[in-house]
Amino acid sequence: PFDILSVLRKEAPVRYDRTRNCWDVFAYGDVHRVLKDSRTFSSVRGAAAGQNLLFMDPPKHTQLRDLVNKAFTPKAIQELAPRIQSIAEQLLDQVTGEEMDIVSDFATPLPVIVISELLGAPKEDRAHFKRWSDILVESAEDVSDEAFQKITEKRMGAMQELTLYFKSILELRAKQPQDDLISALLKAEINGEKLTERDLIGFCILLLAAGNETTTNLITNGVRIVTEQPSIHSELNLSPETIPSFIEEVLRYYPPIVAIGRIATENTEIGSQTVQAGDQIIIWVGAANWDESKFTDPDKFDLHRKPNPHLSFGFGIHFCLGAPLARLEGKIALQALLDRYNEIKLQTDQPLIPIPSSFVFGVKNYPITFVQ
Ligand code: HEM
Repeated sequence: PFDILSVLRKEAPVRYDRTRNCWDVFAYGDVHRVLKDSRTFSSVRGAAAGQNLLFMDPPKHTQLRDLVNKAFTPKAIQELAPRIQSIAEQLLDQVTGEEMDIVSDFATPLPVIVISELLGAPKEDRAHFKRWSDILVESAEDVSDEAFQKITEKRMGAMQELTLYFKSILELRAKQPQDDLISALLKAEINGEKLTERDLIGFCILLLAAGNETTTNLITNGVRIVTEQPSIHSELNLSPETIPSFIEEVLRYYPPIVAIGRIATENTEIGSQTVQAGDQIIIWVGAANWDESKFTDPDKFDLHRKPNPHLSFGFGIHFCLGAPLARLEGKIALQALLDRYNEIKLQTDQPLIPIPSSFVFGVKNYPITFVQ
């Protein structure tokens, strides 16, 4: 699916696109450098993007990130494994017959339930969570100004609803703390300072926006590999201990986030091109992950690829906070599916609908049949 990016990378690893007014960066080394150098390449965006970690630079970013890191260490996340496992089993218990849609029956509800429980949101609010997180990551229907305006209004509406929603939950938890992330964040301090309400709300919204659709796509893309490459399926059945390295290779091969944006803060060079302060830069993870100067046989799905320095969770100070959670959910979800079902096949009579965004790699439906 990323052939076009590979062609562009070979033609010109860094290029200016006049129609979109931005630089595109395709080569692994350049992508890595832009992610690493957060001083020259800023993440700060307009107010419409919301106030959150993803769109902050140091020192504000460092303070906030230090505070929330504790809740997301691999050790803290590992403790969620039994609960994630039981959510996955329950979802599969609800499947009747010998077919299901991986996206709607399994890969979508799983991360939504996990994140709402982690935050401590009441169960009855889950349907809203799903609707809100969908709107936050939805892209415009086309490139027209009207479509852009429509999506911006929809997004602002969802942001307002979410802000009110989390405000009320924060008030409840401030009075009566529970064993959940919101209560923990309310208590957290750094250098004697607590998080402001605005930062807390921004962070909760970010978790929905950054964590749900990405993890849905990781799980679905994993199932996609299993159906596209039956030999990988057989190997996984024979050696389930390869599932962690399978998940890493799924992330490299079909990255849920294909492109990441930055703004240059000063005049600089990327590759042999001169970039001006204020220029917008799009770095293409989908191209970097398939760069043959970094990966041997990049178009081969290699279950045993080692090392596998893909950039699907980014790199540097903004490296995905939820990576341990996404990896754990991906592993548990795939293992649960493989334990239950044999001969997983894509139903070919229905067309697959790609997610209409060049920044995200995934499909809206993935109907399968299987033998129990
Ligand atoms: C940041 C990818 C799952 C929370 C990022 C970034 C990427 C990414 C590429 C860096 C963006 C940048 O540099 O501008 C993914 C993928 C996921 C995933 C591919 C699933 C497979 C999650 C989950 C959560 C999460 C499950 C939380 C529950 C975040 C947060 C940030 C982030 C809070 C911002 C970190 C910062 O700016 O310091 N993610 N993500 N992500 N992700 Fe994820």
